Amino acid sequence: MSTLGHSLPRLDARAKVTGDAQYPGDINLPRQLWMKVLFARRPHARIKRLDTSQAERAPGVVRVFTARDMPVNEFGLIFFDAPVLVNNTVRWVGEKVACVVAETEKQAEHARDLIAVEYEDLPVISDPHDAMIEGAAQIHPHYARNVMKHIPIRKGDTARGFEQAEVVVESVYHTPAQEHAYLQPEAGVAYIDDAGRVTVAAAGQWTHEDQQQIAHALNLPVEKVRVIYPAIGGAFGGREDMSVQIILALAAWRLNRPVKIIWSREESMIAHHKRHPMWLTAKWGATRDGKLVAAEVEVIADAGPYAYTSTKVLGNAALACTGPYAIPNIKVDAYAVVTNNVVTGAFRGFGGPQGHFAAEMQMNKLAEKLGIDPVELRLKNVLHAGDLLSTQTPLPGGKVSLVEVVEKCAKEFSWTNKGTEGTNGIRNTPPVTRHPSLVTGFGFACALKNIGFSFGAPEGATATVELRGAVEIEQAIVHHAGAEVGQGAHTVMAQVAAEVLKLPVEKIELVASDTATSGNSGSASASRMTWMVAHSVRGAAEAALQKWREEERPASATYEYIAPPTDNYAPEDGRGKTNIAYGYVAQAVEVEVDRETGQVRVVRVTCADDVGRAVNPQMIRGQIEGAIAQAQGWAITENFLQKGGRVLTPYFSNYLIPGVMDVPERVDSVILEFPDENGAWGIRGMAEMPFIPLAPAIVAAVHDATGAWIDELPLTPGRVVEALKKK
Ligand code: MOS
Repeated sequence: MSTLGHSLPRLDARAKVTGDAQYPGDINLPRQLWMKVLFARRPHARIKRLDTSQAERAPGVVRVFTARDMPVNEFGLIFFDAPVLVNNTVRWVGEKVACVVAETEKQAEHARDLIAVEYEDLPVISDPHDAMIEGAAQIHPHYARNVMKHIPIRKGDTARGFEQAEVVVESVYHTPAQEHAYLQPEAGVAYIDDAGRVTVAAAGQWTHEDQQQIAHALNLPVEKVRVIYPAIGGAFGGREDMSVQIILALAAWRLNRPVKIIWSREESMIAHHKRHPMWLTAKWGATRDGKLVAAEVEVIADAGPYAYTSTKVLGNAALACTGPYAIPNIKVDAYAVVTNNVVTGAFRGFGGPQGHFAAEMQMNKLAEKLGIDPVELRLKNVLHAGDLLSTQTPLPGGKVSLVEVVEKCAKEFSWTNKGTEGTNGIRNTPPVTRHPSLVTGFGFACALKNIGFSFGAPEGATATVELRGAVEIEQAIVHHAGAEVGQGAHTVMAQVAAEVLKLPVEKIELVASDTATSGNSGSASASRMTWMVAHSVRGAAEAALQKWREEERPASATYEYIAPPTDNYAPEDGRGKTNIAYGYVAQAVEVEVDRETGQVRVVRVTCADDVGRAVNPQMIRGQIEGAIAQAQGWAITENFLQKGGRVLTPYFSNYLIPGVMDVPERVDSVILEFPDENGAWGIRGMAEMPFIPLAPAIVAAVHDATGAWIDELPLTPGRVVEALKKK
């Protein structure tokens, strides 16, 4: 009996569908108070006067917290460079000025509006190019010349490489900010638990890191803080950094009463980080027969005023911007730049989508210039095992399946005869009656995505498995901190335990996502959780089984998986073995463009992903379809507008995520299983990669349909019409 490879129903599915699942906003505790945050809502200012006295006297108000109340007023996942509550200088609209705690939500809201703040507005820098100009005002004291991070990568000699080039393509690309748009906005409740720990129940991606950051800010020993994740309504990287956790903990700790908060959607839109807008200037050269000889890329990422995960996102973008290709000569300069825009950070793909957008646009343009089919051009250039990345190290894990994912994707899409017949014999020829302004096009792109934190960060995960029973194992209890953000991580935990213990999955009980009951497992991010769960739960289950055989009752074992070490980029040339593993992906798309209105409809997507080993194929298809919907939003409809640091689109009425009528009529998920030699059972990791190739594949399809290249996302109707006019 094997449970790996079977599409077992999600353990959390029933409760989520029936409404029984408790999300942070659903939890109510006796004697609970309510919190409201006063956000700065201006991008750059000095606070001249902050007067909370009227708010403090308002009905029902228990306390107003400001920067003065914060024991250690700083937070940050990479650097402690952001204040929890703004002290003196406001650097973006989502800065928290004060937190009001009252008996009811209405009272807290009312009192918040009574706080008097006198600001002196400061000049706003809203374009990273302006921030980098010699003499520009420095926004954050840590970041000289507003450059938070510069990553140079040098391989070979691009000047000599371009001498061999017979065809050169040069372009400047721009990719926009993106809102995570998870179902539940930031919410949570904090209280003192039976053991006297300040306890925060909120949605996040890494319980133990949240615990560390809360403890740091409150100046408490880590053991005095507990973090629990109830049901989580999506995360996508948007919950990697702190939102409500520290302020809730502070209030509960000081007031010794439960404190609850729910952000409105508008508060969520302005006050948590976004995907990094990036500008990518690319110059690539190839020989006449289609061999890449040189690539130069400059990446400028808008970091907003604080780091969050910007330096790491930049690291990924720097690697991704030369694509999954063997290029002998590479020069990359990537910059994370400080501005007064909404702070930016992790979002599914973590720099990979932006970097690959430039790389895949370059490849599709080269294919056109060379008169070589885009699939064929990729097959001539993709990395094979042993080939050197821009970092001058080979890809880890044995098998590199780029050729296979590209070929399989093309085959399943019927790329070669795509105009006449699609997959499974479904004809794609347009209906004869369709409006004459509608045109069809096809596009292709591929990508790699690293698995795990990488770049020198310590990496691993801990699990505990306890076996109960007398003669037979009657129950196995798995303790694991890994976050179930909606991707199915908890189901994977149960499947892995069941596999090792040879038990039906019903006999596995999970005690998950609580710092009080589990060891550190790292975050549900970087496509890493299935990899980490498989190693750690397998290790713990095997160790527990050994003790069971030695007659221990109950038999309990903890196992800490430690991943192979990685290097950060060498500071001078970016050399290094930066990642433990990769997944590989290719996508082909069919679009229909309305030449009159500029509407782009995604008709059909084929997505081939090498996942190493599919633990639960149905959940993988879910990840692929979800990623495609999310990437379609980024590519076409989601237009996150900021002007002078202010958000113009803080509602779903003007920030348009794809609805059910917008997503492709057809998504064919093709799951390939080439084992990674370092993965448990060969598992790689896959949650981010189906996001990555979609945008450049769509743009290539729009070009195929219309002849126009559009180098800037999203493909709003206005932008498409404009490009067609220029054509
Ligand atoms: Mo993710 S963007 O690695 O949470």
